[in-house]
Amino acid sequence: VSVAARLRVWAALLDTHRDVLEGRVLGGATPPAWVAARGWGEALLALSDDALLAGETRGLAAALTSDAPASLRALGADLEAWTAPFRRAPARDGASPTRGVKARKRRQIAALAGRLREASGPRRRLVDVGAGHGHLTRALSEALGIEARAVEADPARAERGSTLAEGSAVRFEVADGMTRRFAPGDLVVGLHPCGALGDAVVRHAAAAGADLFLVSCCLQKTVDGGPRRPLTDVPLTVPRAALGLANLTHGLGDGPGIEAAMARRSKRLALRRLLRARGVDLGPGDEVRGVHRRHFERPFAEVAAEALTRRGLPGASADELRDIEAAARVEHGRIRRLALPRSALGRLLELALVGDRAAYLEARGYRVSLEPAFDAAISPRNLLIVGTAPPRGLSRRDGARRGGPGSSRG
Ligand SMILES: C[S@@+](CC[C@H](N)C(=O)[O-])C[C@H]1O[C@@H](n2cnc3c(N)ncnc32)[C@H](O)[C@@H]1O
Repeated sequence: VSVAARLRVWAALLDTHRDVLEGRVLGGATPPAWVAARGWGEALLALSDDALLAGETRGLAAALTSDAPASLRALGADLEAWTAPFRRAPARDGASPTRGVKARKRRQIAALAGRLREASGPRRRLVDVGAGHGHLTRALSEALGIEARAVEADPARAERGSTLAEGSAVRFEVADGMTRRFAPGDLVVGLHPCGALGDAVVRHAAAAGADLFLVSCCLQKTVDGGPRRPLTDVPLTVPRAALGLANLTHGLGDGPGIEAAMARRSKRLALRRLLRARGVDLGPGDEVRGVHRRHFERPFAEVAAEALTRRGLPGASADELRDIEAAARVEHGRIRRLALPRSALGRLLELALVGDRAAYLEARGYRVSLEPAFDAAISPRNLLIVGTAPPRGLSRRDGARRGGPGSSRG
């Protein structure tokens, strides 16, 4: 089945839940309109702690019993059917540099080097866009035995990368990947180039007829902070506020990660309550100002003391902290339950956004594979596009016909 055909189904499923995507669950007594309209409130609020965590970790379907409303179970089943094939990646081991490379990054690089070994094709040169320190660039250049260009916008990273690359076939370019063009015979590579940069890389690779090897991430980072416009004609214009859902870890199997994230969020809610009780006027997210993100892993008493001191506010007694934390926990439990269907749409949204990139290539005659490159535990942003350009001489139009329906705007 072509990516374009699957993309159309994913986009249609997302479209029937557009109000869900757009309706963030905030605190307060009233559930969001999309929960009430579908009659899901009672079933969601009745979820046990274990069922809730199962839903957040393994997908919506894992939270639901046969008592749940049919429309909620249908959504759970649809999401399971479409996202489960992208949950596990085959174990692959290629070579990765070790010096100065964190363990998680090393495993990403090893998996990509292993995957690239399986992909055939004549390649003259490798171009890695958003190369960072070039660890992946060096690994792939060595694995393929070809020269490589590492395109990096940050001069400090490029300088460090150049030092690491001494004696190798990798050369750094301090350049803007948004406008960097490619040549036929290039193998264009990107590991986590953020949002709009990934879209630009896909368009420019297709324009040159270059092969592509791209792991997407941070799809919420659009050029102008507006909605992301699709590359294909599949209707998938997602509002900026919903794009962040594609960056969640829900349904990807990472229980401890989700529990830790939820504990941090509960503390944020508690801090919000505490600051409000001190008369502080807070806009959305303002409670975190002045407290380092990592500090939310500490006990709430320490988080509260830091925030109050920073703002020159009187301290809190142990009783006040205990009551506030308990109230926040109840509020957060309610928000988590009501938000579960919305969070559960995140992976499908990510698949559709990455699928839009893949379908764009497919429509230009590329042979395309969309697959998880490594397990989500290594990095949840693991969706890889392997795009093999059509043989040269085949016109774009022929390529489009061969690759099936779908047209471009880019
Ligand atoms: C998330 S990091 C990934 C780095 C590397 N590929 C890796 O996986 O370790 C994204 C990199 O893209 C670079 N970058 C961001 N915007 C860029 C642009 N417009 N052109 C080139 N590089 C860019 C950043 O400086 C950063 O090094």
